[in-house]
Amino acid sequence: MENFQIKTFAEYKKAYRKSIKNPEAFWEEIANNFTWHKKWDKTLEWDFEKPEVKWFQGGKLNITENCLDRHLETIGNKTAIIWEPNDPDEESRYISYRQLFVKVSRFANVLKNNGIKKGDKVCIYMPMIPELAIAMLACARIGAVHSIVFAGFSSSAIARRINDSECKMLITANEVYRGSKKVNLKEICDKALEDTPSVETVIVYRRTVEPTTMKEGRDKFWFDELQKAEKECPAEVMDAEDMLFILYTSGSTGKPKGMVHTTGGYMVGTTYTFTNVFQPQKNDVYWCTADIGWITGHSYIIYGPLAAGATTVMFEGIPSYPDYGRFWEICEKLKVTHFYTAPTAIRSLAKQPLKFVEHHDLSSLKVLGTVGEPINEEAWHWYNDNIGKGNCPVVDTWWQTETGAIMISPLAGITPTRPTFATLPLPGVQPVLMDESGKEIEELNAEGRLAIKFPWPSIARTIYGDHERYREVYFSTFSNKYFTGDGSYRDASGNYRITGRVDDIVIVSGHNLGTATVENAIDEHESVAESAVVGYPHDVKGNALYAYVILHHDAEPSEELIAEIRELVGSTIGPIAKPDKVQFVNGLPKTRSGKIMRRILRKIASNDTSNLGDITTLLNPEVVDEIIKEAKIEN
Ligand code: PRX
Repeated sequence: MENFQIKTFAEYKKAYRKSIKNPEAFWEEIANNFTWHKKWDKTLEWDFEKPEVKWFQGGKLNITENCLDRHLETIGNKTAIIWEPNDPDEESRYISYRQLFVKVSRFANVLKNNGIKKGDKVCIYMPMIPELAIAMLACARIGAVHSIVFAGFSSSAIARRINDSECKMLITANEVYRGSKKVNLKEICDKALEDTPSVETVIVYRRTVEPTTMKEGRDKFWFDELQKAEKECPAEVMDAEDMLFILYTSGSTGKPKGMVHTTGGYMVGTTYTFTNVFQPQKNDVYWCTADIGWITGHSYIIYGPLAAGATTVMFEGIPSYPDYGRFWEICEKLKVTHFYTAPTAIRSLAKQPLKFVEHHDLSSLKVLGTVGEPINEEAWHWYNDNIGKGNCPVVDTWWQTETGAIMISPLAGITPTRPTFATLPLPGVQPVLMDESGKEIEELNAEGRLAIKFPWPSIARTIYGDHERYREVYFSTFSNKYFTGDGSYRDASGNYRITGRVDDIVIVSGHNLGTATVENAIDEHESVAESAVVGYPHDVKGNALYAYVILHHDAEPSEELIAEIRELVGSTIGPIAKPDKVQFVNGLPKTRSGKIMRRILRKIASNDTSNLGDITTLLNPEVVDEIIKEAKIEN
């Protein structure tokens, strides 16, 4: 990938200029570095009004040949994946490119033997073990579409996702270790499977020796199936625009959005950005702490690093087990050179005594990265000073599930960094700031809504089964532009700082949550008449959720009821979505047309009630004072 690795700031500027002047020629040159069965006929076709984006049309390839086969001759014995278990006393696993190739090919035959063919959807609900990587690559090998669901989601969240894309198979593990806890994933799946008619087969990997309930005819053990499978599996030849995977992300309405990523553009985009943002060298050890259940794991644990021939670390555990030094212990043990994590993790570790860091030799580190939410100044400096020792560039990478790859970020060691700023767009990315009236803001030193005015190869092509929603959410706010849902400030040098979401999505501990989804879960409680959920600033999680709840007239407010509501959200969506605060109210501030005034609720939750604006036009202004009086605010 050296061919497209930018080495200096001048080279970055040159590449950027070229990418704007002639995007097609720019991306063609990059795409030429990959293995194609047939080169594309047309580099780009796009229309943001329809919307439609197609890259490398007519090109034929398989992404796993780019992640595996083509490395066999040159770096076959190089470690592709280092797996670090939850329990530090269990052995790490080192899997070379050749071994990974064999494992993926063999498991691809397991999929085939169980009736999975090109275009079929396979749901993967697995812990952070190498078999998760093997399962996803095996799907890609035969052209099946993986839909990975984060293994912290609940049964009903899995069922909803399986049913939305009619997955034929579910791949899971019997149990998962998470710190000192063990969670029975198979039980969670069994509950989901009561309501998922499309699933014909369930493959179960045994992570622990505990007995597992298996349903005759439907459930099969990973190892039993592997015994029956052939070793070799030629890669299915895919069209560049064939679907590679679906990944669900929260939306402003209750229903998750199944973002569809396709093969060619996603491969080119993730590999190009991985290579340039992180600047990996030959013998580096790169570790992204995300879970593969999120886009960061898809693009920057698996596809980007493997296509670039890097060594990528997968960690099964959590940062606090067995103690808060675990991340740093792993960095020392594996001689990690690149460390990529979320601001929420940095903030929670920065709260611990510094001895957890100082006990470890972090001298192997060269580059630090952050992703998923704005990083505050204090966390940035703690990371830079205590982990990077002032010697490691910090790349604050802004992107989204929808963008597939990093969009705005420093290139490590090349772009001048500025704390809390994602800095400059990557080549090929054309950000714009828009004002409320839909006009482009041209000035520097300006704040607005962040949109992108030209397609890039890894943009999600649609929302599975709902192209109209895709158009509405991303392309209807500003004419002929992709709207990100984020606000942003641009400084005098053109650096972008992402200020946060401007819609009804709240990022809690780096996880994207739709407030409507949480409200729907709360409203399911028999005592609840109506609810409104908003985010408020939290010093570790970035944001936390505050729920205002109206009870039915015959229900009594109580602490037990609060606990029940929180539990219900946990079991409907997952523990990450539980609101930190629940306040019972008699009414919610509404406009005359019946719309909840969330702006007011957000201000109350943030303890910022000095300027609520004009509330006299509300349908029920009297509730505002009542809510403020009872608000759950710490002083
Ligand atoms: O608000 C932005 C925030 O995360 C959102 C995307 O979330 P998701 O699709 O889950 O993907 C997260 C991982 C790519 C964005 O709309 N976000 C992401 N990175 C940053 C960020 N906010 C500020 N700074 C970032 N570096």
